[in-house]
Amino acid sequence: MSATYRIAAIPGDGVGPDVVREARRVLDAVADRDGFEIAWRDLTAGGVAIDAHGVALRPEDLEAAGDCDAILLGAVGGPKWDDPDAKVRPEQALFALRGGLELFANLRPVTVHPALIASSPVRRELLEGVDLLIVRELTSGVYFGRPSELRQAAEGRVAVDTVWYSEAEIRRSVVLAFELARGRRRKVTSVDKANVMATSRLWRKVVEEVRADFPDVEVRHQLVDSCAMLLIRQPAEFDVLVTENMFGDILSDEAAVLAGSLGMLPSASLGERRTEHGRFGLYEPIHGSAPTLAGRDLANPLGTILSAAMLLRWSLGREDAAAAVEAAVAAALDGGARTADLLPAGGPTDGLREVGTTAMADAVLAALAAAQPVAGGAR
Ligand code: IPM
Ligand code: MG
Repeated sequence: MSATYRIAAIPGDGVGPDVVREARRVLDAVADRDGFEIAWRDLTAGGVAIDAHGVALRPEDLEAAGDCDAILLGAVGGPKWDDPDAKVRPEQALFALRGGLELFANLRPVTVHPALIASSPVRRELLEGVDLLIVRELTSGVYFGRPSELRQAAEGRVAVDTVWYSEAEIRRSVVLAFELARGRRRKVTSVDKANVMATSRLWRKVVEEVRADFPDVEVRHQLVDSCAMLLIRQPAEFDVLVTENMFGDILSDEAAVLAGSLGMLPSASLGERRTEHGRFGLYEPIHGSAPTLAGRDLANPLGTILSAAMLLRWSLGREDAAAAVEAAVAAALDGGARTADLLPAGGPTDGLREVGTTAMADAVLAALAAAQPVAGGAR
């Protein structure tokens, strides 16, 4: 009997439906190829949920998502719901999913496909060998700290946000980063602002405590401002970066420049909970809803397709299928297919062809079909 996995699909807003549709096609194809079943559960979240139900995520949809083996999410948000005074905002869906399902660690791998070196504004020689993993703490820090509000005070309007971290919240993400480093180049860079912030000083202490259990892993503390500079000056030096929620948000967009486009980067949000198949997780591209591209066959689906590969690996225990999808993405790029965001600054050069969202996924599907299923996978 073939295995059946339950995956919640949450397309969301903007280009979310465009890219989730394509990643679903890839997952269905790989399921066919490897003889397993996917039972899809369609859920509404973000601006579309505000329009339909008045909230960014209904409690029953959160529960349904949590009942699955994994979640595939597109993006949420858009100008329609951007009123700064609004009580309900699409992003609340993300925070409800991340926080509500205790998905405390967000993994954002950054590699540079050789064929995309020309698409990055960073010099070629700096990009060679880039292979880093950002582990972003995802369910605390300023995103969840209270109070967070606007106040009327004697001096006029004031606003307050709260950066909060408990040692347990720090420790679980840091431990995961060290564990992941063991499967890689055994280097952890912990990023903080310990010269200014109390939460960063606690972060640093916890990293020092955790490192005692990982004597084989090299550790460096880096202040976030200089880290931002080093990410461009010597990106190949980094292996695993571990950092708090907002620093991770900012540094991962910066790191996307190395990969040629924000549209390339996948992510996995994981917690402690395991299903019978693997670790429960939420998978989404790191890009946003890009409303101006929505529904126009312009978005790059590769970040979501690569997120689907992470889903196969982490939540379904299907390493072979994950590696096959990653290899098919690489083959599609080698074959010259490029969505607009991936074209070199001067436009398509020899051998490159500009394609839309669906044709890009078609190129991945064709590469997948052409590759033999191999025992052990491609990497
Ligand atoms: C991300 C996004 C979100 C975040 C936004 C949409 C709230 O930028 O996933 O990186 O800041 O976490
Ligand atoms: Mg972000």
